[in-house]
Amino acid sequence: MRVIICENYEEVSKEAAKLVAGLVNLKPDCILGLATGSTPVGMYNNLIELYKKGELDFSQVKSFNLDEYYPIAKSNENSYDYFMNDVLFEHINIKKENINIPNGEAKDADKECKEYEEKLNASGGVDLQILGIGVNGHIGFNEPDENLIAVTHKTGLTESTIEANARFFESKDQVPTMALTMGIASILKSKKIVLLANGKAKHNAVKALLNDEITTSNPATMLKVHNDVVLICDKEAYNG
Ligand code: F6R
Repeated sequence: MRVIICENYEEVSKEAAKLVAGLVNLKPDCILGLATGSTPVGMYNNLIELYKKGELDFSQVKSFNLDEYYPIAKSNENSYDYFMNDVLFEHINIKKENINIPNGEAKDADKECKEYEEKLNASGGVDLQILGIGVNGHIGFNEPDENLIAVTHKTGLTESTIEANARFFESKDQVPTMALTMGIASILKSKKIVLLANGKAKHNAVKALLNDEITTSNPATMLKVHNDVVLICDKEAYNG
C-alpha cells in the first residue's frame, strides 16, 4: 500500500482531487467509485473548482456510490442520494443517467442489492474507488464482524457508526440502523483504490490498517490483498 502523508486536510483533499482529475483527463469515460461522509467533501470541492475553471469534463464519467441508508427517501437531506447531489453532482456536468447509488427507497432490498451488483459488474468495473474509513475500520458499511457478505447487501449499522453519524442528524435515534452497501469483494474489484483519512479520531483505524493482519473485525485490513491502494492521510491520522 502506498502511503501519502499530508500536512493537513486541505492537502489530503488536493492530493486526492489530483488523482481523480488525472484519471478523468486520461480516460474521460472512466468509472468512479464514490463515497459520502465528511472526508471526501474537500476533494469534491477541489473537483468542482477544476470543473468550473474548464479543466475537467465529467460528461462521459460514470459513478457508483458505495452505500445508502435503508430505508430512506431520496428527498431526505440525510440520504446519500441527496448528499451526493448537494456536494458534487449538481455542480458538475455528470449525466444523471450515469450516476448509480443504491436505492434506499427500494421495496425489496435484496433485489436492489442483487441488481446493483449486476450493474456494477456489467459496467466493466470501477477504475478508481474513493474510500473513507470508519473509526472502527469499516469501509462502505462493511462493519466489523465475524463473517462478512462479499457482494452488495443489506446490513445493520454498529452502535459506533450510529454514534459517529449522529452528527448529521438532529438526534442519535434518527440515524437509520440499516444500510445497503457494496461488499468487500465489490470494492476489491476496483482497478485502483484511494483511501482517505484525516484527524486524530481516525488514527487507530489507520494504525490497524497499516500494522494488523487481515481480519473481518477490521474490514479495512482486507484492502491489503489489493495491489493498487493509495492511502492519503494527514499527520493527525497517521501519527495520532
Ligand atoms: C461513506 C462510507 C463510510 C465513510 C466512513 C467515514 O459512503 O461508506 O464508510 O467513508 O464512515 O466517514 P467520515 O468521512 O464522515 O468520517
